[in-house]
Amino acid sequence: MQNITRLLLQCRAGFEKEAAGEISDRLSALGIYGYCQLQDDQGYLLFIPHDPGDAWRAVQELQFDELVFVRQWMACTDLLSLARDDRIGQLQAQMDGWPGFTEVWVEYPDTTDGRELAAFSRKFGSALAQQFKRDGRLQRRAPGDALRLQLFVVSGEQIYLGVVPPANSAPWLQGIPRLKFPKDAPSRSTLKLEEAWHWFLPSAEWERRLAAGGTAVDLGAAPGGWTWQLVRRGMFVTAVDNGPMNDDLMATGQVEHCREDGYLYRPDKPVDWMVCDMVDKPARTAAMVVEWALNGWCREAIFNLKLPMKQRYKETASCLQLIDEALVEQGLPYELRAKQLYHDREEVTCHLRLL
Ligand SMILES: C[S@@+](CC[C@H](N)C(=O)[O-])C[C@H]1O[C@@H](n2cnc3c(N)ncnc32)[C@H](O)[C@@H]1O
Repeated sequence: MQNITRLLLQCRAGFEKEAAGEISDRLSALGIYGYCQLQDDQGYLLFIPHDPGDAWRAVQELQFDELVFVRQWMACTDLLSLARDDRIGQLQAQMDGWPGFTEVWVEYPDTTDGRELAAFSRKFGSALAQQFKRDGRLQRRAPGDALRLQLFVVSGEQIYLGVVPPANSAPWLQGIPRLKFPKDAPSRSTLKLEEAWHWFLPSAEWERRLAAGGTAVDLGAAPGGWTWQLVRRGMFVTAVDNGPMNDDLMATGQVEHCREDGYLYRPDKPVDWMVCDMVDKPARTAAMVVEWALNGWCREAIFNLKLPMKQRYKETASCLQLIDEALVEQGLPYELRAKQLYHDREEVTCHLRLL
């Protein structure tokens, strides 16, 4: 795949610089050096390695799960300009000598302009899949050998053509899990917690790790969107907030409302989950999470780090490092991940699991 020479990385529009800083740091730790090409608010960027062969190496060796600001990625060609009357034929010509693949996805930028390409992308994707089945390029393979052909459409004639191992990329088109807003949830933020679970918990483990009868503390809970998700799973929740909680949620009998400062709240006994959506300095939230972990007050936590206007990547990295260092120093085994979710704005969502 000699014409695979770069990486295309999708991110929240406005966070291109953060994604660029992050990918450059992570790849240089693997000995992959290059430069980024980006425009503000484009919703994607390119990383061009000095050694073109490193593009494919990057999507195999760097763990996608470790990236915070990147929603989706692929190793790809340079931008292809295709004549409208034979787009598929021109793509086929680019794929000379490429291995077969197991699925075809067509993506587009998650921006106002980009979304106008949604209908075209869907139709083009199914036309490609039909043609590639006939060609024998689209084929079944063992999961370990699976390969996704991924296209990123910038306009009807301009397309990046790429590949990615499905197991090392987002499992949803554009890195966006399509979630439906539950009509009786008290706030839109409810989808943030649900999306976080989709990113951080394998679906086969939801039954066990989000079990009915479990206990949770929700810090900064009002009006109750996150609490609603926990209650829906059958959990018992202590909702900490000076603000009012939704009446229907309180009527379930599964919620105790504590009007206290969430940063000073201490549980009487350990709980399964701590979740936190308080708006404060990210370093303060990170320090509080460390306190919860070192005291064994919860087994798992999901918390938001509200980002400052500037140095958003640096601030995120330093908060994660603060948690890492404190837990390593105490010899506590744990998993820590962070992602800027589709439902996150000026923030990232993190998951800590004590093992
Ligand atoms: C973004 S809202 C939370 C929304 C909630 N997750 C939901 O889904 O409905 C932030 C909440 O944090 C609360 N908050 C901010 N600082 C707090 C503190 N120090 N202690 C307790 N609550 C706090 C605010 O009162 C506000 O209700």
